[in-house]
Amino acid sequence: MAEPPGNPLQRPLPDGVVPEVVVTRTERHWAMIVAAMLVVMMAVIVVTGVAGALHPSSNVEVVDPLTLHLGGEFAESNLGTAIEPDGSATVRLIGEQYDFVPHCAVVPAQTPVKFRLTSADVVHGFLLPDTNINTMVVPGFVAEVRTSFAQPGEYVMPCHEFCGLGHHAMWTGVSVVPKDQFAAQGPLERTSCAKQ
Ligand code: CUA
Repeated sequence: MAEPPGNPLQRPLPDGVVPEVVVTRTERHWAMIVAAMLVVMMAVIVVTGVAGALHPSSNVEVVDPLTLHLGGEFAESNLGTAIEPDGSATVRLIGEQYDFVPHCAVVPAQTPVKFRLTSADVVHGFLLPDTNINTMVVPGFVAEVRTSFAQPGEYVMPCHEFCGLGHHAMWTGVSVVPKDQFAAQGPLERTSCAKQ
């Protein structure tokens, strides 16, 4: 058997080892495939974002955050819980640094409840633990979530989008009361538990 050359780089490759030139070519091909995948994914993000006009997709309903207090649906006198002609409840809330207005919402149990929220300043979050309610509250848009509460109870509602230095203290509550104990109210009345 012949002595192998002293320089290991000059020794012949054992059977089954892929030569460097093949490895380099294969790696270049895979790099091009990965780059093409990245281009496609970026294109999907840009095209869908621009085509959707960068709107939140859940409920594209706009409102002017600068004039909320001057009138319309989110004027102060219209905030809180309204009872609709069909018996369902609509709760309107404004999120602002660093509270929700009204600070406490009251709704009847075993009743369809619709929350409508908007923000007066920056993005806030509206989350009721143990329910299906979890939405961002974006200035300029109305967030709407629907649910119903089977049992009376108290829900603590933290803001879960970082909204500034007071974010950690921004929370409010939803008080679910038995249906027969929910005070009857006329179509123009609004209630909350903020001052109780
Ligand atoms: Cu509002 Cu965090």
